Amino acid sequence: MELWVEKYRPQTLEEYVGNETIKNKIADYLKQGSIQNLLFHGVAGTGKTTLAKLIAKNLNCDLLYINASDERGIDTIRDKIIPFASSMSFNDVKIVILDEADYITPQAQATLRNTIESCSATTRFIFTCNYLERIISPLQSRCQTFEITPPSKEEVFKKLEFILDEEGMLDYVIPIEIINTYYPDIRKIINTTQGSIVDGQVKIDDNSLKNTQLGDLVVNAFINSATLTEIRQILADSGAREFDDLFKYIYDRSLAMFGDKEGEAILIIAKYQYEYTFVLEKEICIAAMLNKLRNLC
Ligand SMILES: Nc1ncnc2c1ncn2[C@@H]1O[C@H](COP(=O)(O)OP(=O)(O)OP(=O)(O)O)[C@@H](O)[C@H]1O
Ligand SMILES: [Mg+2]
Repeated sequence: MELWVEKYRPQTLEEYVGNETIKNKIADYLKQGSIQNLLFHGVAGTGKTTLAKLIAKNLNCDLLYINASDERGIDTIRDKIIPFASSMSFNDVKIVILDEADYITPQAQATLRNTIESCSATTRFIFTCNYLERIISPLQSRCQTFEITPPSKEEVFKKLEFILDEEGMLDYVIPIEIINTYYPDIRKIINTTQGSIVDGQVKIDDNSLKNTQLGDLVVNAFINSATLTEIRQILADSGAREFDDLFKYIYDRSLAMFGDKEGEAILIIAKYQYEYTFVLEKEICIAAMLNKLRNLC
């Protein structure tokens, strides 16, 4: 079964939803047949990787794609990027996509400053990241930086409608609940919709949506310095029996919730996620984790 997020990943600017100003700028680049060094930042699942790949696809170029969350160090620059930039090519330009560049180590980022300059005759770089503040400023200053803003809910609605039509679904109702729960993460919205198809119909699993709302409630409780009793009440009121989504939900927001204690928070989340599989009363395990995490705030 093909994943819809890949099957319907926009391949041209026309298919790419939202961000009109950025699209106009990119259209100019594509007309010229060359780009500046670019940096796209913004929240998850809103089209950064898509835009980077789309640019490469629509230029006459050699492409080196690196997911920096797997390859974060100086080795990658020495063993992959420099040989790529100095190799022979019959295309107009070479492009290196450094996806999820906020994972590149600070030392490797510092090395990249020189690499970008020494390769500038042949090679352009496209960086994507969620957290702009994790990219050192000398790198930012070598790139044209764009914040990718999420398309509106209405645009996401239309995109979903397009996909369901293409998939030959009949008499479906667009799952507004899924859009409302996961917006602006388009990847999550498309994935959840695909996962909800039963016999050609969108069947929404209330439980999984409930868990995300629970995630929001818990995160808000932390931000508002709620007491342990209040947090336990939220867990009890949710009516949930399984809480597995909560680990990743809090993990994804750990920087915002715990600031420089992020590392300690992740150790706690990892420990309780491990224990969660072995215990009978899941709610007690989660309450214990949240109590430990509260001490960090
Ligand atoms: N602007 C958009 N127009 C149309 N489809 C989109 C758009 N943004 C995202 N999508 C859909 O969502 C999927 C995920 O997008 P993408 O991989 O570009 O997200 P991302 O911003 O790189 O996320 P992350 O920060 O998690 O890496 C795409 O495959 C595509 O199907
Ligand atoms: Mg991405």
